[in-house]
Amino acid sequence: MRAITVEPGKPSSGLLEDVPEPPREHGPVLVRTLAVGVCGTDVEIVNGGYGWAPPGKTRLVIGHESLGEVLEAPPGSGLEKGDRVVGIVRRPDPVPCASCAQGEWDMCRNGQYTERGIKAIDGYASERYRIEPRYAVVVDRELGERGVLLEPASVVAKAWEQIERIGARTSWKPRSVLVTGAGPIGLLAALLGVERGLEVRVLDRVTEGPKPGLVRDLGATYHASSVQEAGEGVDVVIECTGVGKLIYDAMQIVAPVGLVCLAGVSSGGRTLPVDVQALNREMVLENTVVFGTVNANRRHYQAAAEALARADPRWLARLITRRVPLDRWAEALVRQPADVKPIVTFA
Ligand code: BGC
Repeated sequence: MRAITVEPGKPSSGLLEDVPEPPREHGPVLVRTLAVGVCGTDVEIVNGGYGWAPPGKTRLVIGHESLGEVLEAPPGSGLEKGDRVVGIVRRPDPVPCASCAQGEWDMCRNGQYTERGIKAIDGYASERYRIEPRYAVVVDRELGERGVLLEPASVVAKAWEQIERIGARTSWKPRSVLVTGAGPIGLLAALLGVERGLEVRVLDRVTEGPKPGLVRDLGATYHASSVQEAGEGVDVVIECTGVGKLIYDAMQIVAPVGLVCLAGVSSGGRTLPVDVQALNREMVLENTVVFGTVNANRRHYQAAAEALARADPRWLARLITRRVPLDRWAEALVRQPADVKPIVTFA
């Protein structure tokens, strides 16, 4: 079968190659891949800046945003032939730590977790893959191709859950949220904010392409200005860019008792002169919380599936801006101005 593979750490090593059928040890459920989504993490892996091959191997099958159809499932697994499924990305560490032991692998405490298509286990960008039933999430057939958005939506569902859990430290109830970055994560974060009845603002650099319209059609407001202007008085900031200046500005503008949720992974290497003591004074005197969030566990995939089911299907469909057939996979990883979510199609 064909699979997209890379040699992690080595730029331009990506290949569409023939690989053996998926190994039994990955699980009893056999899935035919329909599509994989491409995100910044995949671009970094293919550029040699991130990713780990499975132990004893030099190449990794990429792909962590998946949509597939079950070909074989054992009786009693809760899955049936023909089910549409999305594979969960992370696997608990082998020890396992106290979080992983409870199925909260997204909160792994010893860093020994693995991630399909990213860290030490082959991903889903192969024509077929195998999986354990507990890591396969069934998605509504009616969602169609939009099911490929479940993984990024799960990351955002976790972010919102964390905002609500941290917010429950007091009687505070958020009314407004600023999302920085109108990529797929930012737009899905905005969707979940609108679904919660909040006043949602989205900040991005672009003034053209699909993003401003997508934000407006959600009933949110689009800003191509600064964090200061766009975020005046907001209770929550969901930072999805990883850009230092935006992170710093977000910490300063968020309203008293507010939360800054950091959901964008920075590439690092950029420095910014910061008056940490002034920032500290402001955060202490205003009870500000700044926290990071990554990945998602099964409960977040379920919450995300519910959020996607509630969303306007036509709006969701507009997030998938490009479909690239498997044999031209590399084109999906080259950013184009009108991109929101490019996907690689396997059918
Ligand atoms: C994925 C997460 C993963 C993170 C770090 C993101 O692109 O969506 O599931 O935990 O990268 O590897």
